[in-house]
Parts: sequence; structure tokens; C-alpha cells
Amino acid sequence: MTSTRTAAIILAAGMGTRMKSSLPKVLHPVAGRPMIGHLLDRLDELAFDRKVVVLGAGADAVAEAVAPVATAVQDPPRGTADAVNAARAAMDGFDGDVLILFGDTPLLTAQTMENMIARRRGADDPAIVVLGFRPADPAGYGRLVVGGDGALQAIVEHNDATPELLAIPLCNAGIMAVDGKRLFALIDEVGDDNAKGEYYLTDIVAIARRQGHASAVAEVADEREVMGVNARADLAVAEAVMQDRLRARAMADGATLSDPDTVYFSFDTRLGRDVTVGPQVVFGPDVTVGDGVDIRAFCHIEGADIASGAVIGPFARLRPGTRIGSDVHIGNFVEIKQALIEPGAKVNHLSYVGDARVGARANIGAGTITCNYDGFFKSHTDIGADAFIGSNTALVAPVAVGDGAIVGAGSVITADVPADALGLERNEQSQKEGWAARFRSRRTAEKEAAHAPRPPSAGRKAAAGRKKES
Ligand code: UD1
Ligand code: MG
Repeated sequence: MTSTRTAAIILAAGMGTRMKSSLPKVLHPVAGRPMIGHLLDRLDELAFDRKVVVLGAGADAVAEAVAPVATAVQDPPRGTADAVNAARAAMDGFDGDVLILFGDTPLLTAQTMENMIARRRGADDPAIVVLGFRPADPAGYGRLVVGGDGALQAIVEHNDATPELLAIPLCNAGIMAVDGKRLFALIDEVGDDNAKGEYYLTDIVAIARRQGHASAVAEVADEREVMGVNARADLAVAEAVMQDRLRARAMADGATLSDPDTVYFSFDTRLGRDVTVGPQVVFGPDVTVGDGVDIRAFCHIEGADIASGAVIGPFARLRPGTRIGSDVHIGNFVEIKQALIEPGAKVNHLSYVGDARVGARANIGAGTITCNYDGFFKSHTDIGADAFIGSNTALVAPVAVGDGAIVGAGSVITADVPADALGLERNEQSQKEGWAARFRSRRTAEKEAAHAPRPPSAGRKAAAGRKKES
């Protein structure tokens, strides 16, 4: 942005009662990030000079979540102008442009914020720029009263509007860009003589006009961008819109999603180029995927770093602390947690690898389990490069298998296996020649004898007689 400074005031002191939640409304996550976090991320894209979040009394969890962003407390909440007033001390000495946002509009884009600031700096120097939109259902929104000259004259709240004003399709999205030199002088003039008995921020438009300052409207085309989340159903809509955006971004950045609507991203998922993602894949927070990775259907991935060329799934679960090296294969029904899988290693079927290192090119057989937890402590399993772990092996940590070692299938490994050794823990197999054939012929004869026809018994006759009588 240009040399003029910018600040943002985010209003979040409302009660959020319609969420029916013990979690403050603005902390409810969308794509894994608290709603208010999305706004702060967008502000970061534009490098605002000053930011303050206005909270209600006792909203310590929100203050903690937004730290190190400054907070101000509005107690009690007496309207949106009163909320801005609560930020006055935090804005002391600031004379740039102030963007006023609502904490429960997580879909607002940086582009819209930038447009509003740019409009505020227009040659006509409007004191206030209001974000307008034309909702399909305008009920509840303030109406923007625009004069014949195109200038914004006033905002009238739904509850205070005449039927004539209610017919105006252009509504207040709630977001404003205000000249910081004039903001608090305007706020000082706001009264509470209205239907709700609140101090309406929207009143500053008419006040500015009386003082000889013009206001303008910046319109946003997509009403979903300014949707406010008030109840859980709104949260679900916001999530769906955000997921669509994240899917579009992944594809624009060079990933193939074979069925995009079924892939769920976290706000921070990072995909390389030529990544393919099959249907029904869920990304939790903090996942990085390198170039050319193939993520097959039905995977659940969180807190994982996947290097280029790896193949994941179908049906794999990668949990936090997973680091997958290049060209690694992780197959079906494999769970990895807090483990480093070095380049070229394979864990292809039905395994749990946790608190472990798997060396380069090692092959982990089907059904291998690292027994990492004894009910009290977690312990580490170390598997060397080129090691081969036979199927259905339990590796009881702490334990190490050296480079190039082989572990026989079905072993319970409790002692370290040296490099290039065979580790084997199972009883020797015994053989009885011809036993199975002898067993079958004996049992066949016994079964035939048991099923040979017999004369009808007295008991059966008596039962048949009873049935006839009834
Ligand atoms: C507000 C606007 C309305 C607009 C609508 C868009 C006013 C008076 N009205 O109405 O013109 O069409 O948003 O959604 O501004 N808040 C506080 N302290 C308060 C009151 C509210 O911090 O004392 C915060 C809320 O947490 C919320 C935001 O301000 O983030 C908006 O408050 P809300 O009560 O939802 O305003 P609306 O009635 O929806
Ligand atoms: Mg609202």
C-alpha cells in the first residue's frame, strides 16, 4: 500500500448468543482457523500499521488467540459506535486511514479491504467509505441512502427505517474505511436515540454530512464475502465457501483434484506443483506437500511434511510430527505419527509407525507395529537404512534395528538387532508328514457314521401327535 498509514479496528465484543456455545463466537474455526484469525491474516497481507481487537469483558481466550495484536475492552457493549470508542486509546495519535471490521466475517478478502482503503484515498477525500452489497434477503441490514449525485447520505438501520427506506436494495455490509483524523470527532457526536437504544456506528455517515464531509460506497459483488456468522448454520456455510476457495487455489497453484468437492483443506495447507489428490481426502492443520506427490483416496493428513514424489494411501492416516521423505510409499491402513520416514522407504500395508525413524529404502512389512507406549512413557524405535521388517512384527520400543538387518515375520522384537543381522523371535516350526490327510479321512468317517439314517424315535411320534390335537 502507499505511504499513508493504515490501522484496523476489529469489533468482537458482541455476545454471540445464537451460537449457543461456551467458546466465544470469533474463536469458532473455519478451515481450522478461528474466524478472527482469518481477518488478521488478511490484514497481514496488506501490512497494516496498527491493529486493535475490541472485546467484551472476560474474553481472555480471544485476547490470547489474537496476541500479539492489541486488544481493548468494551464493557458493557452499547453498540458499534461505542465499540469503536473503546479502541480510542489504542488509536491515540493515529491519523492515517482506519478500517473498521466485524470479527465474525471470516470471508472478507484482502482485495476488498484494499479497494476500500483506495477509495478512501480518492481525490474527493470521503471521510467515510462504507462497504455496500445487495443481499438476496436484506432483512436486518442497514440501508444505504445514496443521493442523486451518487454520494452516500446516511445509513438507516432496519429497525429504524420507513417502508420506503426498507425498499432500498443496497445494504451496509458493516465494514468501513474512515479518515483517522476525523473518526473520533464523528464518534463523539453519536447518540443512542434509536429503536435499539444503542450507539450506532452507522450514524457517523449522517453526522459527517452535517459537518460538510462526504461519504462514499464501495460495493462488493459476492454477498457471501461479507456474510456474518451468527449461528452454527452460518458457520457451516462459511466453511463451505472457504473450502471452495481453498480448492480453487490448490488447483490454480498446480494440483490436480480428481473430485474437488470431497477434498477438505486447512487454511494453511501447502501443496507443491503436480500434486494429485484423490477423492475424500482431509487435510488438518500444518501440512506441507512437495512436488509430484500422489495422495490417493480416503487419506486423513495433519501435521505432516511430505517430500516430493511420495505416494500416500489410499486409506492412510498421517498424524502430527510425520515427516515423509522423497519417493516414500505409505499404503493402505497405515498410521504414522511423530516419525521420520527417510527417502525411498516403504510402509505399504496395515501398520502403525509412531515415535520412530525408518531409514532410507527400508521395507516395513504388512502389520508391523511399533509398540511405542507402555502406558506411562513413549519410547523411540529406530530402523536403519535398507532394513527389512517381516510382516506382523511388533517392535517393542525403545529398540533399534540396524542398517541392512532383517527381522523375521511374526517376531516380537525387544532387543536391538545389529546391522546386517537376522532378528527372529518365534518358535521353531514342527512338521508331521501325512498328518492332515490322516486327520481328514478319520473325521470324514466319523461324520458319515453320525449321519446314518435311524428309525423314528418315540419322542418324535409323541410330538407329532400333540401337534394334531391342538
Ligand atoms: C450492523 C450494522 C448494520 C449492518 C450489519 C451488517 C450497526 C449499527 N449496524 O448491524 O447496518 O447492515 O451490521 O452485518 O453498526 N459489536 C461490538 N460491540 C457492541 C455491538 C456490536 O463489538 O456493542 C460487534 C459485534 O461483535 C459484531 C459487530 O460489532 O462483530 C456487529 O454487531 P451486530 O450486533 O451484529 O450488528 P448488526 O445489528 O448486525
Ligand atoms: Mg450482525
